[in-house]
Amino acid sequence: MSVDVILGLQWGDEGKGKIVDCLATNYDFICRFQGGPNAGHTLIFDGKKYVLHTIPSGIFRENLINIIGAGVVIDPITLSQEIASVEAENINVADRLMISNRAHFILPTHRLLDKASEAAKGKSKIGSTLKGIGPTYMDKTGRNGLRYGDLFSPNFKSKYNNLKEKHLGLLKMYPDVEFDLPAEEEKWFESLEEIRNIRHINAEYLINRALDDGKRVLAEGAQGTMLDVEYGTYPFVTSSNTTSSGVCSGLGIPPGKIGDVIGITKAYCTRVGSGPFPTELFDEDGEKLQKLGHEFGATTGRPRRCGWLDLAQLKYSIMINGVNKLVVTKLDVMSTFEPIKAATSYAINGEDTTELPYDLTDYEIKPNYQSMPGWEEDITKIKEYGSLPQNAKDYISFVQKNAGTEIFIVSNGPGREQMILK
Ligand code: GDP
Ligand code: IMO
Ligand code: MG
Repeated sequence: MSVDVILGLQWGDEGKGKIVDCLATNYDFICRFQGGPNAGHTLIFDGKKYVLHTIPSGIFRENLINIIGAGVVIDPITLSQEIASVEAENINVADRLMISNRAHFILPTHRLLDKASEAAKGKSKIGSTLKGIGPTYMDKTGRNGLRYGDLFSPNFKSKYNNLKEKHLGLLKMYPDVEFDLPAEEEKWFESLEEIRNIRHINAEYLINRALDDGKRVLAEGAQGTMLDVEYGTYPFVTSSNTTSSGVCSGLGIPPGKIGDVIGITKAYCTRVGSGPFPTELFDEDGEKLQKLGHEFGATTGRPRRCGWLDLAQLKYSIMINGVNKLVVTKLDVMSTFEPIKAATSYAINGEDTTELPYDLTDYEIKPNYQSMPGWEEDITKIKEYGSLPQNAKDYISFVQKNAGTEIFIVSNGPGREQMILK
């Protein structure tokens, strides 16, 4: 068997959590392969809302195992809070969750460094979630990190102290920021005790053996392609590989074992934090998208910037990831817009192009838009593709044609049932 992948094609928050939760019952394993508690994946069912940050979005489904893979970074404080919120629903998380020994820990001083580094950047800050993501991945590639498996080593405390001392040295370069380190450390060590009972595994063996045994595995991406450290809008990105290549390194599986790559795009675009966003709207349409789409960050609560769909950007993401199936979410939010617009190319320095420049901050990019008629109807209760208003179907066909990739699911509301198979 192979590993199917679900990942975001924009700047995150495309609705990955919802779609993973919807499709999870087709799989035996759901695995996060990168990112950490900077992610916020929202699941809504039975009238309740859950936001997951580190735990994969299959946790509420029976008879499957969720794995936090090697490429993920873990903050025990967030993880133990998440576990408590899932256990409040009478789910024994230890039965359903496993953690790779190779996943790295976010220390309290990583969060402190994140905060200090952003403060030092002033106006050019990344707009980080301040969860310690950047400093933790820096320690990983710098070969200083502390891993989940180390928790079971007798040297854990001394490894922790060495890394903390290094951080305290680095912090001297930065302006002082408010951070109660002793209190955060106390919480961190308490939380470690709470997560100790989660099975720690050599996930690369477990996943490869499961595939050999015919088990079905789904990899759940966090963030989005435009936040990828390599191919996103650098430097306004996160610090991991959010793209399909990250699945191989993050789970320890070979490229030939990647199956379907399912890419998720909203019917429009959003971005939270700083950085370039060619189709961003600063007018009433932008405000309306934010209001109707409830566009506020699931992790930080910050308002998300909104704009029209960017097909040049979408095609780029499809290319980078090898997407063979598309999901369009939040089509319901587009109801009542007249007209609906989507960018098909850019004018850069007076020349038309469909190619994204390597650095979007250096150029003045003017999107070239195509307008389409909208629809007035509420589509949130529709179950069959054929029952959508003609203009909504025309918009979906237009996106599919421009993307050059089959759209197989349209999501028409935040709930688990609000999903139309095309
Ligand atoms: P993720 O990070 O990709 O999992 O996405 P988030 O959970 O951060 O943000 C997506 C938001 O949109 C959440 O509040 C979801 O409940 C909501 N959502 C997902 N799909 C739809 C949809 O089709 N329509 C509407 N209106 N909301 C949706
Ligand atoms: P999900 O998985 C949206 C953004 C931050 C910031 C930049 C770097 O919910 O889609 P970091 O904390 O990684 O140093 O922040 O990336 N960012 C996200 N934006 N959704 C996310 O995750 C994000 N994770 C990070 O806002 O601009
Ligand atoms: Mg999110």
